[in-house]
Amino acid sequence: MTSRVLLTGGAGFIGSQIADQLIEAGYDVAIVDNLSTGRRQNLNPKARFYNVDLCSSQVEEVFDRERPHLVSHHAAQISVQASMDNPQNDAATNVLGSLHVLELCRRYGVRKVIYGSTGGALYGEPQYLPCDEGHPVRPVSAYGISKYAVELYLPVYKDTFDLDYTILRYGNVYGPRQDPHGEAGVVAIFSQRMLGGDPCFIYGTGEQQRDFVYVEDVAAANLIAMETASGKAINIGTGMGASVNQVFDGLAEAIGYQGAPVHRDSRPGEVHSIHLDNSLARHELGWQPTVTLPQGLEKTAAYFRQAASGGQISQVAG
Ligand SMILES: NC(=O)c1ccc[n+]([C@@H]2O[C@H](COP(=O)([O-])OP(=O)(O)OC[C@H]3O[C@@H](n4cnc5c(N)ncnc54)[C@H](O)[C@@H]3O)[C@@H](O)[C@H]2O)c1
Repeated sequence: MTSRVLLTGGAGFIGSQIADQLIEAGYDVAIVDNLSTGRRQNLNPKARFYNVDLCSSQVEEVFDRERPHLVSHHAAQISVQASMDNPQNDAATNVLGSLHVLELCRRYGVRKVIYGSTGGALYGEPQYLPCDEGHPVRPVSAYGISKYAVELYLPVYKDTFDLDYTILRYGNVYGPRQDPHGEAGVVAIFSQRMLGGDPCFIYGTGEQQRDFVYVEDVAAANLIAMETASGKAINIGTGMGASVNQVFDGLAEAIGYQGAPVHRDSRPGEVHSIHLDNSLARHELGWQPTVTLPQGLEKTAAYFRQAASGGQISQVAG
């Protein structure tokens, strides 16, 4: 029997790549997204699309109609800055919207939820590196708190209502379709600005490190998690840190950009350096990253180059 998946956030950067891989693998996919940051062009034409807000009562109509077996929950307010400017608004989507989805999962007998969480914004300033899943959780932003809050509900829903789950804690995901206009997603922002010949801003020295993981690898982990890793929270990262300066240099080379970065004060709500231990992902999911940072930067630069030259922006460069 074909498994029916309801994917929230499927018009977004990561969600749309998950949709593509699910459909390719033979899943039946329905998408809920309010297009607040997602784009219609990202939608896989084989998915049924509902332009609905997570918090609206219409989500129940979608569950009633679709009767999903599995839910992949990726819709969220993703801006750390916005979460600090307006924590209530962040929690309305990330906590209450998520709870709405979980309640509907319970009522409509969904078997399992895959929850797209964060590794980068949850552990706080690391006490040791790489951060494994047992590292103390000390978010330094409202976004980190709201994402983690949902992680706390999931075991309760599993134990009480038999709703299975897997939590995937992503590093800094990058690649085609990432929004180059937001405040997050340094690879997309730099790509767009370098291609336009515009200055690139680095907040702080640029020596701060992140675990940059390519979006197709992240989507692949989601596919595996559909049927495995019951009740687990698993880091999805490369196990290595790369500095913002390294990313700048790698992209400048891929794009042929001659400018120097412009440094600005570092921003609140962000940790200095972090990367994630991915041993559990290797063990539980048999997953490992396949795209190196230089390869991923090349692919991302190629995508944005095509977009800048008027190509179809939703088409992912191979
Ligand atoms: N990009 C990363 O590096 C990263 C890292 C860790 C975790 N995550 C998580 O992965 C998920 C996807 O993030 P992304 O980077 O693809 O961001 P994105 O903004 O591209 O995707 C989020 C999607 O959710 C939709 N959405 C937002 N609020 C909604 C609402 N109230 N109702 C319905 N739809 C709504 C948006 O329109 C968008 O399509 C998020 O849950 C995010 O917290 C992302």
